[in-house]
Amino acid sequence: MTGRKTLIPVRWHRKKDGTVFPVEITASHFIWNSRPVHIAAIRDISSRLEAEEERKRLEERLHRAEKMEALGTMAGGVAHDLNNILGVLVGYSELLLLKMPEDSPFRGHIINILESGKRSAAIIQDLLALTRRGVTVSKVLNLNRIIYDCLKTPEFETLKSLYPGVTFRTDLNPDLLNIKGSPVHLGKMVMNLLTNAAEASFEQGKVMIGTENRYLDSPVSGYDELKEGEHIILTVSDQGKGIAPKDIGRIFEPFYTKKMMGRSGTGLGLAVVWGAVKDHGGYIDVKSAEGEGTTFTLYFPAVREAEDTEQQKPLFSEYEGRNESILVVDDVEEQRKLALNMLTTLGYQATAVSSGEEALEYLQTTKVDLLVLDMIMTPGMDGLETYRRILEFSPKQKAVIVSGYSETDKVREVRELGAGAYIQKPYLMDKFGLAVRKVLDRN
Ligand SMILES: Nc1ncnc2c1ncn2[C@@H]1O[C@H](COP(=O)(O)OP(=O)(O)OP(=O)(O)O)[C@@H](O)[C@H]1O
Ligand SMILES: [Mg+2]
Repeated sequence: MTGRKTLIPVRWHRKKDGTVFPVEITASHFIWNSRPVHIAAIRDISSRLEAEEERKRLEERLHRAEKMEALGTMAGGVAHDLNNILGVLVGYSELLLLKMPEDSPFRGHIINILESGKRSAAIIQDLLALTRRGVTVSKVLNLNRIIYDCLKTPEFETLKSLYPGVTFRTDLNPDLLNIKGSPVHLGKMVMNLLTNAAEASFEQGKVMIGTENRYLDSPVSGYDELKEGEHIILTVSDQGKGIAPKDIGRIFEPFYTKKMMGRSGTGLGLAVVWGAVKDHGGYIDVKSAEGEGTTFTLYFPAVREAEDTEQQKPLFSEYEGRNESILVVDDVEEQRKLALNMLTTLGYQATAVSSGEEALEYLQTTKVDLLVLDMIMTPGMDGLETYRRILEFSPKQKAVIVSGYSETDKVREVRELGAGAYIQKPYLMDKFGLAVRKVLDRN
């Protein structure tokens, strides 16, 4: 009674109502009473196949996330170092401008240096955004405003002049709910999407920018997993050449590009978009048809709070020093010098040391009104540890924390210990001056 077995893995059968479903067939063939006998078992395997598909999707998503993380970390490391170097450039240009007579013929040059420095700082912020450590998303804002502002920038004017056949249309919901976010990053995100849309367009084409509110009452699964709740949606669609299915999984990777180097084509655009969306707790979906166009759909969790209003640029007198004593603790020499220079210009008595250990020693013999404490110092104690030790013998010591990154857990911890303010590098005269003044004036 021995025989053969056959396995037919996936076949499609049709139900009475016409729907097609996958089956697996196992058949046994043997001889019984000198006659060939065939027994077949037909099993409906739709749920097994679905589960396999789902597992594959999850694996892909995980893989993609890990890759983004790794590339982001690398880019962020580079950016952190560059940020320090650039801070020196920007800082000294500001100082020079302050000290230079109004009618000096060199003012124009310095202003150019300062402006380029600030622009480079913006690019570095792009890179930092990729590490997800560079962004503070605390401002309540309306995305419509970000879009309007974006359409008024010189960058957008340049884009339009490069693609004169492309028209940009907006369809923005006037009752759009607010979100919590970082205006700079969201602006960049919008600009990158518009740039890509224009670059993908044919000679003539329309790019649509739309916003709307949407309540999702159940999770949605697209390129990303989407939670339920109130969202605002941004869509940017073009009628351009589209993205091939095999490429769509990679477009968000840093440095992935199909463009020629030159005007654009670093491949950072969508990586920044991805970073911004993630930083804002959002979701992204992309639908594309080759030769027809592409639509990026971005979801952000909505908030019911009122928009924060912009504050005015402060007057110099608001942050002038009154000869108070300040100790700067920073492991990078140029940064120390720069901080000292700014503080002296502002009217403080400033001294600097290069490590937490030195700071402790200095404070054994000398009292200062304020510490300016760098968060990340190598080797040796970091800002948090240093401050903790100082508080042991000088419990009322005021401090301003500085770091290249935005507010991390460590920074939060230092603030909980009582440090009055936190500022992000590069040192800018008014930001730095105001933070110092605020902490000194507090009782
Ligand atoms: N709207 C779009 N239509 C068609 N392809 C697109 C679109 N947006 C992005 N892509 C594809 O995704 C790739 C990555 O886009 P990304 O913005 O990250 O980099 P890039 O535009 O090539 O360079 P960069 O933005 O740094 O100048 C592009 O090279 C392009 O192939
Ligand atoms: Mg781009």
